[in-house]
Amino acid sequence: MEDDIRRIRKTWAAAVGANDIVGTIFYRNLFQVAPETRGLFPDDIDPQGRKLVLTLSWILDHVEDSSTLIPAAEDLARRHVAYGVQADHYPIVGEVLINTLKDTLGGDFTDEDVGAWVRIYSDLSQTMTAAAYPQPT
Ligand code: HEM
Repeated sequence: MEDDIRRIRKTWAAAVGANDIVGTIFYRNLFQVAPETRGLFPDDIDPQGRKLVLTLSWILDHVEDSSTLIPAAEDLARRHVAYGVQADHYPIVGEVLINTLKDTLGGDFTDEDVGAWVRIYSDLSQTMTAAAYPQPT
């Protein structure tokens, strides 16, 4: 876990440092892979790209502080229901995010880094989707 956190922080800082429009690039990639999500977002995607980068940075800063992170991630996910986001979108966004990091960092993004991102994103999206799309019992 500590190694994962070190890897995601290091690669995220490198990606944001290498390209200050990494958020915009992420959305460009998302709309290629999942064009059906384009209509959920405003026409001008640059502000959204900046929001995503800021929020992901905040999440990575709080990844060891679950009593702060979890309620914030749950609220974020519940707001996403009103944006028209479905649970099935989360794995697509995770894959596009990781591919965007690969594109940005090239050989500096190792298989171990990919593994760390897959684990962290899957924990985060599990927390978010469980809050936003509760299963009937
Ligand atoms: C780790 C997962 C995610 C993070 C950190 C994230 C972050 C954000 C942030 C910070 C906002 C700004 C509004 C707010 O704070 O409520 C937002 C809005 C939005 N997000 Fe996400 N998001 C995530 C997952 C997703 C997924 C899976 C989708 C599906 C396509 C999505 C689609 C949207 C849409 C449609 C908006 C509203 C845009 C608008 O109308 O301005 N997000 N997201």
